[in-house]
Amino acid sequence: MVNKDSPWRQRSEIHAIAEFSPELELEMERLDKEFWIPGQKLKEIVKRFIEELDEGLQENNKNIPMNISWVHSLPTGNEKGTYLTLDLGGTNLRVCKVTLHGNETDPATPEKKYTLDQEQYRVPQELKSGSAEQLWTYIAEKLQTFLQEKGLDKEYSKDKPMPLGFTFSYPATQDKIDHAVLQTWTKGFDIKGVEGQDAAAQLREKIKEKGLPLEIVCVINDTVGAMIASAYNDHATIVGAIFGTGCNAAYMASLPSIKKLSSSDPRLRPQDPNANTNKNGEGEKMAINCEYGAFDNARRVLPITKYDEEIDKESPRPGEQAFEKLSAGLYLGEVFRLVFIDLADRGFLFANQDTKGLRKPYILDTGFLSQIEDDESPNAINTRNLFRDTLDLSLSDQEVEVSRRVAELVAFKKRWARALGEVLEWGERKEGEDPIIITSAEDGSGVGCAIIAAIEMERRGR
Ligand code: BGC
Repeated sequence: MVNKDSPWRQRSEIHAIAEFSPELELEMERLDKEFWIPGQKLKEIVKRFIEELDEGLQENNKNIPMNISWVHSLPTGNEKGTYLTLDLGGTNLRVCKVTLHGNETDPATPEKKYTLDQEQYRVPQELKSGSAEQLWTYIAEKLQTFLQEKGLDKEYSKDKPMPLGFTFSYPATQDKIDHAVLQTWTKGFDIKGVEGQDAAAQLREKIKEKGLPLEIVCVINDTVGAMIASAYNDHATIVGAIFGTGCNAAYMASLPSIKKLSSSDPRLRPQDPNANTNKNGEGEKMAINCEYGAFDNARRVLPITKYDEEIDKESPRPGEQAFEKLSAGLYLGEVFRLVFIDLADRGFLFANQDTKGLRKPYILDTGFLSQIEDDESPNAINTRNLFRDTLDLSLSDQEVEVSRRVAELVAFKKRWARALGEVLEWGERKEGEDPIIITSAEDGSGVGCAIIAAIEMERRGR
């Protein structure tokens, strides 16, 4: 039975291939109510979001910390040199040798302002709940292998070390640019002995112990890296955002707006001549790493489903990163899985099938959801294969339909631009005419980190 007038059917962009039983139709309506956020509610959330961002600028230790990064300016676009960068994200560890060409690009390929040579390693699961010693040893080993494989150990020495930029994508308090005290682990990490400590100092110690010819010159957040990398190509960039394993954004704030930072703070001197300053001090800037994944940890406005509750309860840091747990890549597959378990346990799905595969926490990633959303194969054969290969389950037509609908509800790929328009009240516009242009910062954290290292090296030289 298909009730074409039900709100969820009107909202859904799916062309149904099967009809639901009346019970399942009701169940879909229930899920829609849990997950759908009306425009008015979105606005209420945005209002509170802005308040929390502002609170973080006023004082230290607020829920959204609005961390000061000591990156004072966007790049000129002419930064040059060769740097090593290390990126510890939630899923991978990346080591890159980045050469920045500045404005001296090859005229045949003017869009290529850098050359990149990188290796990527999947962070082993056991490391994520191990000790600081294990973490830094693992990282130092990867750095050593990289230096050897690329012959960089011959080019640099302890007396003439290679500058290393460290992209550490976790909330950290920075007193200066090569220092980062971890506030709390996020993205499911639970490594003992790093919270409350300077991650840069710990890595520096390991580098020394191993005798690697490296010098850490900056520690940055991936969002700051993405913003700086984009601005290297396009100076109009104002925000760097990451929608990955975790979620977060950085932007260039004007110094007077950062009330918690006194304009006489000695750490603000000496001035960076690139920092676009006029004589009144207006126009001075600082990149702020918002850490908005922590938005509404007090749960005042966010609509939390029972599936979200469960994810939070089972996570290593319950009560933290409330917004991130509702929306970031690490968690969306898990929300989908929990909905499916709920439906299976209540007899709506997979009668007479073994659902053992579905019972493994975090077995589904966001790729699983987008493959379902993007599936245009005849008779949804791709979705059926996906369930068979990943979960050892075969889908009836009705179950295919449920998976498409739940993917549509949980993930936001096709609808987030629309939501942005609704919140900002853009009204109807043709494609490409939105007031905000979203570009993707390829290699953002590596290249952005190298640019910041270049700016820092130049500042030290002066
Ligand atoms: C971290 C941020 C990071 C974001 C995206 C969050 O969990 O706290 O520092 O920018 O993930 O990687």
